[in-house]
Amino acid sequence: MGMECYVIKGGNPLAGEVEIAGAKNAALPIISAAIMSDESVTLENLPDVNDINVLLDAVAGIGAHVERIDRHTVKINGSTIQDCCVEYDLIKKIRASYYLLGALLGKYNNAAVPLPGGCNIGSRPIDQHLKGFKAIGVNVSIEHGTIFAKCDHMRGAHIFMDVVSVGATINIMMAASRAVGKTIIENAAKEPHVVDVANFLNSMGADIKGAGTDVIRINGVRSFHGCSYAIVPDMIEAGTFMIAAAATKGDIVVKNVIPKHMEAVSAKLTEIGCEVDEFDDSIRVVAARRLSRTHVKTQPYPGFPTDMQPQMTTLLALSTGTSIVTESIFENRFKYVDELARMGASIKVEGNTAIIDGIEGFTGARISSPDLRAGAALVIAGLQAEGVTVIEDIAYILRGYENFDGKLRSLGAEIKKVESEREIEKFTFAII
Ligand code: EPZ
Repeated sequence: MGMECYVIKGGNPLAGEVEIAGAKNAALPIISAAIMSDESVTLENLPDVNDINVLLDAVAGIGAHVERIDRHTVKINGSTIQDCCVEYDLIKKIRASYYLLGALLGKYNNAAVPLPGGCNIGSRPIDQHLKGFKAIGVNVSIEHGTIFAKCDHMRGAHIFMDVVSVGATINIMMAASRAVGKTIIENAAKEPHVVDVANFLNSMGADIKGAGTDVIRINGVRSFHGCSYAIVPDMIEAGTFMIAAAATKGDIVVKNVIPKHMEAVSAKLTEIGCEVDEFDDSIRVVAARRLSRTHVKTQPYPGFPTDMQPQMTTLLALSTGTSIVTESIFENRFKYVDELARMGASIKVEGNTAIIDGIEGFTGARISSPDLRAGAALVIAGLQAEGVTVIEDIAYILRGYENFDGKLRSLGAEIKKVESEREIEKFTFAII
C-alpha cells in the first residue's frame, strides 16, 4: 500500500470544542502577495497544511527569504528574489500557483508560472485571469505548459468579469495594485478571502476599496512596505466540523470563527433541524434528532459555498425524505457519490443535480477520496457509519485540513491515520 489512509470506527457523536485554523484559500494568495514587498512581512494564523508548505517552498525557490517563526507564523522577505520564473515541480499540483503570476507581475512586470492543476472537480479555465491581465496592458502567452506574462508597465483599466471568479478577482487585484492609475473590477467575487487579501494588500500600502462588494476600485501605488498580518479563520474547515457534528448527532463548539461568514451553512443547518447558536467568535451546533430534507444550490458568496457541497450532500443522505442539491459552480463535483453509495447512500446524479433519498445510517466500507472537500465529506460519512471505514488517497485531505484526525479525536471520534494494511488490521482488531 504505502499510501496514507484514514481508518474510522463510526458511531460516536462528536462532542467538545475545536479550534479552527486560518483559511487556506486566503493564505495562498497572501503568501504570494507577501513577496511584492521588499520589506519583511510577518504572516500569522497560517494553517499548517501541505498546500501552504508547498507554496512557501516555491516562494523560497525563487529567492525570497522565508523564515518560519513557529507552526503558524512565517516571516517573508521578497527583496532577495532573483527569478520571475517559477519552475518548481510540486507547484503545478496546487491550483493557487497562479497567484504567483499576479504577484510577480505586480512587482516586476514579468512572470512565468506553470499552468496549474489542483483538485479534479471539472474544467477549470483561467481565461478571466488572463483577460484581466491583458486589460491592464500585459502580454500573455502559454508555451510548453507555462504561462508567460510580461509588459513594460501596467496601466489601470475598467474590467468587467464574465463570471464571478475568486481566483481571477484576487489575481487582478494583486497585479493592478501596482499599475499606473485606477482599475475598477466589476462583477468581482465577494468571498471573505477576497476581502482578506485586499486588507492584507492595504496593510502593505495598497489602495483598494470595495472588496466584499461586486465593484472593487484600486488606485495603483509605486511600492509596498512591510507589515504584520493574521489570516482570517477558515470558513470551510469550520463548516466541515459543523456538519460532522450534525451528522453524528453531536454537540460541538467551533472556536475562532467569524459567524457572519458561516451564515449560509448555519441557515441550512437550522432549517433542517439543528440548533445553531452564534457567539462573538464561536458557534455551537447541536443535533439532537434525525434531520429533515431540504434543497441546496451552490452559489458565489454569500450563497451556499461549493466547497461545502459534498459535506452537505452527505448530511442530507442521512436526513428524512428527498433532498435536491444543485452544483452551479463546478461541473464535476459529485464523483464522491459513488463512494457514498458503497456505504449505503441512495443518491442519483443527473447533470449538476443530486437527488438524495435519505437513509437511516451508513455502513462502513473501503472507499477512496476523489478530492479535498469530497474527502472530508467521506470522513464525515465514516464518523456516522456503523462499523469500520477505510478512506484511501487522503493526500487530498491533507492538502487543506490541519491535523484533521487529531481534531476529530479530540471531539471523541475513533479515527487514525495509518500507512499499511497491518495497521488497518490492528485498528480493526482493537475495537471489535
Ligand atoms: C477557489 O477556486 C478555491 N480555490 C476553490 O476551493 C473554490 O471551490 C472556488 O474558489 C469557488 O469558491 C482556491 O482558493 C485555491 P473560481 P478558483 O475562479 O479561484 C469559472 C478547495 O477545495 N472560471 O471562483 O479556481 C470556474 O470554472 C478549492 O479549497 C472561469 O470560467 O475558483 C468556475 O465555474 C476547490 N474562468 C467558476 O468560475 C476563469 O478564468 C468559479 O471559479 C476562472 C474561473
